[in-house]
Amino acid sequence: MKGKILVTGGTGYIGSHTVVELQNAGFEVIIVDDLSNSTAAVVDQIEQITGKRPDFHQFNMQNLERLEGLFKGAGNIDAVIHFAAYKAVGESVEKPLLYYRNNLLSLINLFECMEKFSVRNLVFSSSCTVYGQPDKLPVTEQTPRQTAESPYGNTKIVCEDIIRDYTHANANIQAIALRYFNPIGAHPSALIGELPNGVPNNLVPFVTQTAAGVRAQLSVFGNDYNTPDGSCIRDYINVVDLAKAHVIAIERLLDHKNLSAFEYFNVGTGAGVSVLGLLSAFEQATGQKVNFKIVGRRAGDIEKIYADTAKANEVLGWHSEATLEETLLSAWNWEKRIRKM
Ligand code: UFG
Repeated sequence: MKGKILVTGGTGYIGSHTVVELQNAGFEVIIVDDLSNSTAAVVDQIEQITGKRPDFHQFNMQNLERLEGLFKGAGNIDAVIHFAAYKAVGESVEKPLLYYRNNLLSLINLFECMEKFSVRNLVFSSSCTVYGQPDKLPVTEQTPRQTAESPYGNTKIVCEDIIRDYTHANANIQAIALRYFNPIGAHPSALIGELPNGVPNNLVPFVTQTAAGVRAQLSVFGNDYNTPDGSCIRDYINVVDLAKAHVIAIERLLDHKNLSAFEYFNVGTGAGVSVLGLLSAFEQATGQKVNFKIVGRRAGDIEKIYADTAKANEVLGWHSEATLEETLLSAWNWEKRIRKM
């Protein structure tokens, strides 16, 4: 056993893939998740993939008493990876207090417990949303953050600020924030993947559901952007590659090597891909045609963003490995499995 890691939100999309990689790397994992956007079956699937069952606790992290009880019962926790948060951009505009209360209080409660039980290391799940629409591409970690487009995005900015201030004030705690670009795809086993609640907001689940016949038609939001084919550009990162970045971040924290109190890294591929480009890559990779039509722009969408990944490459020694086609095929295999196709 290399260490005991608490993964909050560990049954969610990125969390579950990270738990698999942690267990494969020899870490012992404890999960806390309220199952507000995932199911307990994910724990079985993780066990099926890795041969090891993570220790699972179901509650919401706003409950400080339960969280303290978990830290107390767990014994020595070496590090925490904090995924647990609400993440629907549109819903956050409708219900800002729900988002601020949940996302900020969960982090604050986590720090309270880490301090009380002398847990030193945190990896935080941040997002390229903190950059807004940058003036210059690709974005480096030096690119200034911008006022968030949504309360959800603002919770990522404020959480980063809380971590900065808290690690500054508390010499015993060190943290790494990973700023994800657009995570897509599924585990190659097709046993875990993205399970959106209801109608998907994100592009790839909508694409795979359309190909599977669950949705009649994909709407492509705008083809009049200032990009080569007029559709928006994103940096789509394979979820297993992203999960591996968390394992490396944990190892870096546990090594305590050349570490300043709070570091942050972009985690993307470095390649900008348009919505229409992704659709043709999907058709190429899977042989499936996707019924789509061009509609108007979606409010709040960024025109183009992709990562400069030099810092993660050089400092963490992390590289994205999967091709876009491999990743889209993994997303399709997952969709087929859950639709029993
Ligand atoms: N898109 C469509 N049709 C759809 C869904 C999406 O054309 O049905 C387009 C969007 O307009 C955008 C691209 O596909 O151009 C990607 O959209 P996603 O919703 O998949 O991803 P976003 O980049 O909008 O959002 C992601 C995360 C958010 C995060 C944001 C930060 O899902 O949590 O990145 O930039 F806030």
